[in-house]
Amino acid sequence: MQTTTELPDDPALPALEAIRASGLSGAIPALALEGPVELHVRRYHPGSRATLEARAGDRHFALKAYAEDQAAEAVLYEALADSGLERDAEVRVPPLLAWERDLRVLVIGWLEGPTAQELVENGQGKRAGELTARWVRRAPSLKVKLGPPLGAVRRLEQARKWVAALDAADPALGTVATELARRLVGTQPKEGAPRLVHGSLYAHHVLDLGEGPGLFDWQKFGQGPAEFDAGIFLATLWRLKLLRESVAGEVARAEEALLAETDGLLDLRALAWHQAATLLRLARKLTRRQIDDERRARAHALLERAARLTEAAG
Ligand SMILES: Nc1ncnc2c1ncn2[C@@H]1O[C@H](COP(=O)(O)OP(=O)(O)O)[C@@H](O)[C@H]1O
Ligand SMILES: [Mg+2]
Repeated sequence: MQTTTELPDDPALPALEAIRASGLSGAIPALALEGPVELHVRRYHPGSRATLEARAGDRHFALKAYAEDQAAEAVLYEALADSGLERDAEVRVPPLLAWERDLRVLVIGWLEGPTAQELVENGQGKRAGELTARWVRRAPSLKVKLGPPLGAVRRLEQARKWVAALDAADPALGTVATELARRLVGTQPKEGAPRLVHGSLYAHHVLDLGEGPGLFDWQKFGQGPAEFDAGIFLATLWRLKLLRESVAGEVARAEEALLAETDGLLDLRALAWHQAATLLRLARKLTRRQIDDERRARAHALLERAARLTEAAG
């Protein structure tokens, strides 16, 4: 028997179709599931991907169902496990439990713990910064050389698209974003040696596992400078502050701890630059849905902050 909460009916996601048709144990026999399975949709992007949380007896895992082939991500999880990150006390990643290429689905272990974002929201900003610092310190010694180059060059290519999208949604935002992109071009940092980067190190992708951080959602991984990940992390904390001014103190403590615990590993100008580039991305994300006054104001605030950061980067 399976208890399956309504799964989206999405023909673009073959794993969901297979689970609807034959249950999880039938769809992915490799999991050797017995007994009832409880499935919950955690996140769903129609036509693109869905994340399900599954519990079966004492097993607890995540299913990442995609529309496109995710061989690269599966191979990354295997490489990370080979380099010991499944059991690492410094930084951990979820184990890959199954990969059904035809169904375009990855099954990964569930990591338990509050997110860095939750830590910040609950008065533990310092801890959030320390956890991310551990990743910044651990990454250079990893032998994993997989993934596309990610860095300022890639960001500038993306920035052009983000500016165009902002401009299409709201010409005034487009004007501000165009000026920001011009500044990003003018202050492009020289980058340090590339290493494995997570690629979307949002504060909600970093978990506190007690012993150390756990990082999940590796879909955007690649090879880039330390400031790429650290800049994303700080930009998402700044966005959090924008939504809830009461967390400002904890955001500052997180940033302080990250800098203190990575002494010498982060170039502050490059960090400011990458933070600014991510803020442009976050502003663009606000225009995915119909723009209203509140979203417009938030996008302006993100772009203003980004512009100030490019002064620090220049
Ligand atoms: N391995 C995991 N361990 C713990 N929580 C997870 C795990 N994978 C996903 N989640 C939860 O599901 C949510 C969506 O997963 P995520 O991989 O970030 O999907 P998306 O690609 O849509 O961003 C996460 O924010 C987190 O709450
Ligand atoms: Mg995610």
